[in-house]
Amino acid sequence: MAILVTGGAGYIGSHTCIELLKAGEEIVVLDNFYNSKPAAVELISEISGKDFKFYHADMCDQEAVDDIFEENDIEAVIHFAGYKAVAESVREPLMYYRNNLTGTFCILEAMKKHGCKKIIFSSSATVYGIPEKVPVDETFPLSAINPYGNTKLIIEDMLRDVCNADKDFSAALLRYFNPIGAHESGKIGEDPNGIPNNLMPIIINVCTGKQEKLTVFGNDYPTPDGTCIRDYIHVVDLALGHLAALRSVREKKGAIPYNLGTGNGYSVLDIINTFERVNNIKIPYVIGDRRPGDAAECYSVPDKAARELGWKAERGLEQMCRDAWNFVQHNK
Ligand code: WQD
Repeated sequence: MAILVTGGAGYIGSHTCIELLKAGEEIVVLDNFYNSKPAAVELISEISGKDFKFYHADMCDQEAVDDIFEENDIEAVIHFAGYKAVAESVREPLMYYRNNLTGTFCILEAMKKHGCKKIIFSSSATVYGIPEKVPVDETFPLSAINPYGNTKLIIEDMLRDVCNADKDFSAALLRYFNPIGAHESGKIGEDPNGIPNNLMPIIINVCTGKQEKLTVFGNDYPTPDGTCIRDYIHVVDLALGHLAALRSVREKKGAIPYNLGTGNGYSVLDIINTFERVNNIKIPYVIGDRRPGDAAECYSVPDKAARELGWKAERGLEQMCRDAWNFVQHNK
């Protein structure tokens, strides 16, 4: 039996594929390279020392998705594929609803047709909207503050409904906080196509000269240094969280949400200062206006994943910053 990894050539997907292969799992990967690169497919094999089947296809192509299930005995799906840029989703909502929801429909239809009843979904802390208080646990109210976040919320609802209709169905809803960092080898890391939106890839672009400077979006928030606080988690810790979730969907039924975070909150200036210190580099930045929709603070209570999945993040902020820069150094 194999695990189908949609979006497996992407940032979190490729790191997860490596850990799945190292753990002895058989995987099949689907990716259309919208926000990833073909080289990632080879690198997954090179780093893990294992081969796997790859399909260059779009998850919205129902026939292509059905073919994957026809040609492979799929036990479970880890569903990463989807557009993920918040600002772009505000500019192009229909593109986000069409891709993220239609793609998920196609995956779930093929799962139903082939009797596959286990899914691990790449959800996001964005389903908590702007939390009333921190830290955030899985019982907090859910709300969407942008179309991207709404696609995550709608897909969570779809999976809850599917599990209510079919008591044999299992769905782990993994709510990522802020993934950063890269594989220790330096061979894979965060390498988005186009202009990045997130803090760490922008810091990297500034340090490599691709962008002139970093704009810190506001330093007048009610936080110790005035900049926003987030729960940054090493991408390898996040990948290992998916292996723990795979064990869970093999044992438990129903749709169960889990925060995948460290439980530690760091400000934008903490990230800048730590990155500069561990990598002995200077990041030119200016203080700009607040970015609409940003919460002052958002960080997790990670206890449920520790209790029920036997998983917790092990890598600290210094390693996240070191590994992120190491990837750049290896790929100059
Ligand atoms: C982090 C902090 C910014 C850029 C988003 C999505 C979430 C997940 C992670 C997909 C914020 C500040 C950023 C810059 C800055 N994505 N910042 N200058 O907004 O917490 O979460 O990405 O799953 O779903 O919502 O991450 O990296 O965009 O921002 O000051 O040029 O860095 O204001 O405080 P965010 P981010």
